[in-house]
Amino acid sequence: MFKKLDRNAPCWCGSGKKYKTCHQRFDDRILSYERLGHIVPTRDLIKSEKDILGIKESAKINIAVLDEVGEKIRAGMSTEEINDIVNDITYKMGGIPADLGYEGFPKSVCTSINDEVCHGIPAKDIILKDGDIINVDCSTILNGYFSDSSRMFLIGDVAPETKKLVEVVRECVEIGLSKVIPWTFLGDMGSAIHHHAMKHGYSVVREIGGHGCGNAFHEEPWVSYVSKPGTEMLMVPGMVFTIEPMVNMGTARIFTDADNGWTVRTADGKPSAQWEIEVLVTETGHEVLSW
Ligand code: MF3
Ligand code: CO
Repeated sequence: MFKKLDRNAPCWCGSGKKYKTCHQRFDDRILSYERLGHIVPTRDLIKSEKDILGIKESAKINIAVLDEVGEKIRAGMSTEEINDIVNDITYKMGGIPADLGYEGFPKSVCTSINDEVCHGIPAKDIILKDGDIINVDCSTILNGYFSDSSRMFLIGDVAPETKKLVEVVRECVEIGLSKVIPWTFLGDMGSAIHHHAMKHGYSVVREIGGHGCGNAFHEEPWVSYVSKPGTEMLMVPGMVFTIEPMVNMGTARIFTDADNGWTVRTADGKPSAQWEIEVLVTETGHEVLSW
């Protein structure tokens, strides 16, 4: 799948160095996994230093937006007001909300409450109330670079069992992150998340997963959190993807709202929670770019 380069040709990565002193060993290592039948990343999924700096600048906006939402969020507030905060901070900092107009999505952020799994649409008449849990999923474009992360917020006095769901999903993401190790597999990460959720009696949504991210909103690979160790794509330094499991208190089954075509809900009406981070695979492990 790699175009073979002459050892003395300039490296494909744009470093200006000769291939043999730059990415040749890296490519050979990837090819050795491919020969064993593993799924391996294509070159376009390997971010350059410039790309990584660009994604980090974009992520500064994403993080600032979610920090500000965290400061202001409270019972009595509409999800439209959250959308206003996202627009306000994003444009002030020079970015563009990536959600707005994405495949026709009508707003600048996703706000998913209680049994809503993801893709909730902010509206003036959706008012946060005491005991709600909400996921605010924010994505930013800056100079063509994409950042994507989401956080859960507890509104007032949340039932202990619901609070626990939110905490366990956070742990799931941390455990998944600890499995982001170069030259291991996305399935190692996904299965660790799945197991932690199952240990607490929860289920993990299968149909919607994470994704490569950075030079586009959604890149390869698609990332599952119900995968098996040693399967899925090989993680190599320079890859950037999201860890964003959607974990349900009850059934894993979901459905999409037929009226708006976006909002995904649990089939049994029980709560669902999700945290999302954007992660870079490094030579020694990982770096979180957006949270
Ligand atoms: N931010 C979501 C993700 O994590 C995607 C939302 S797309 C939208 O991939 F159109 F619903 F905004
Ligand atoms: Co995402």
